[in-house]
Amino acid sequence: MKILAIETSCDETSAAVIEDGVKVLSNEIASQADLHAVTGGVVPEIAAREHAIALPYIYRQALEKAGLKASDIDAFAATTTPGLIGALLVGTSTAKTLSHLYNKPFISVNHIKGHIFSTYLERELNSFKFPFITLTVSGGHTQIWLINSFSNQQLLGETQDDAAGEAYDKIAKMLGLPYPGGPALAKVARDGDQRKYKLPIAKLDKPLNFSFSGLKTAVLYLTQELTNSGERPLTQKEIADLAASAQAAINTALVENSVLSLKKHKVDTLHLVGGVSANLDLQARLTEATANYNCNLVKPAKPIYSTDNAAMIGAAAYFDFANC
Ligand code: KG4
Ligand code: ZN
Repeated sequence: MKILAIETSCDETSAAVIEDGVKVLSNEIASQADLHAVTGGVVPEIAAREHAIALPYIYRQALEKAGLKASDIDAFAATTTPGLIGALLVGTSTAKTLSHLYNKPFISVNHIKGHIFSTYLERELNSFKFPFITLTVSGGHTQIWLINSFSNQQLLGETQDDAAGEAYDKIAKMLGLPYPGGPALAKVARDGDQRKYKLPIAKLDKPLNFSFSGLKTAVLYLTQELTNSGERPLTQKEIADLAASAQAAINTALVENSVLSLKKHKVDTLHLVGGVSANLDLQARLTEATANYNCNLVKPAKPIYSTDNAAMIGAAAYFDFANC
C-alpha cells in the first residue's frame, strides 16, 4: 500500500511516499528556518503562506522521486493536529483535494503519533517488542508515552508549560544566539562548564510531568545580574557556561523522567524522537542512563526522521489505516 503523506504543522513543508508503513520511497522537505530566523521565531501567518507556495512543488517532487504518478497512490494522508491552524489547513486541504480527485481514502494523522512511529521508518514492522516507552521532545511538545501497540498508546507525562525545544530556543535568544536556538545553544555549550550555575529542575506533583518556565526565568534573572541589568554584554565564557548549565538542567529532567517511566512500567526499551533528540548531550545522558538499567535506547534510523517530516506521517497513517 502506497501512501502520499503531507506534513505542514509548523515550519517544514514536507511530502513523502511510504510503502506499507516502513519503506520510504521519497521524503521531500522544504524548511522555512531561514525565513523565520529574521523574526527570531515562527510567524504563523507567514508559515501558512509559505506552505501554500511550496507544497504544490514538494508533493510533485515526492511523487517524482518515488517514480510514481498521483493515480498510483492508494491513500492520501496529512497532519491534521496539533499545530498552527493556518499551516495545518494547507496540508490537509491539499491531501483531501487529491483524495477526492483520485477517489482514494484520506487519512487524518496526529503529529505526535507521527513522531512516535518515526522509529519504524526503514525498519521492519516487527522491529520492536511492545510495550515500549517513547520520549517525544521537540519545539512544540514534550511528552512521555507508553506504547502498548500500534493502536493503543497511553500518555504518561507532559510539559505543563514550555516544550523542551521551546525552552532551548527562548534561553538561546536570551543569550543572544541565533534562531533556531537549540542547535546554537548546544554548540556554545561544548565550551562551557555545566556546573557553573545552579539552575532549577522542576519537581511536580505528578512526577512524570515537566515544567521548564522556572528554568527560563532563572536564566533571565541570572543574565540580568551578570550584566548589571544590561549595562554590559555577557562575555563568551558566561554565555558558554550559561548554555551548558541550562542544557544540563533541561536534559536532566528529560532523563530522570524517562528512567522513572521505564522503571514504573517495567519496560526495557526507550524510543527517543523529535527535534531535540538531535542534542548530543541528551543522547549521551540517555545512552548512559538506559545502559545502567539494562535498557535499550532506540533512535530513528536517520536524523532527518527526528525533525518534522512527512515520512513519519505516512508511517502513522499506514498503522492506523491498515489496522496494524
Ligand atoms: O521536531 P522539530 O523539528 O519541530 C517541532 O515539532 O517543534 O523540533 C524543533 C526543535 C526546536 O526547538 C530546535 O531548537 C530543537 O528542536 N533542536 C535542538 C537541537 N536541534 C534541534 N535542541 C537542542 N539541541 C539540538 N541539537
Ligand atoms: Zn514535531
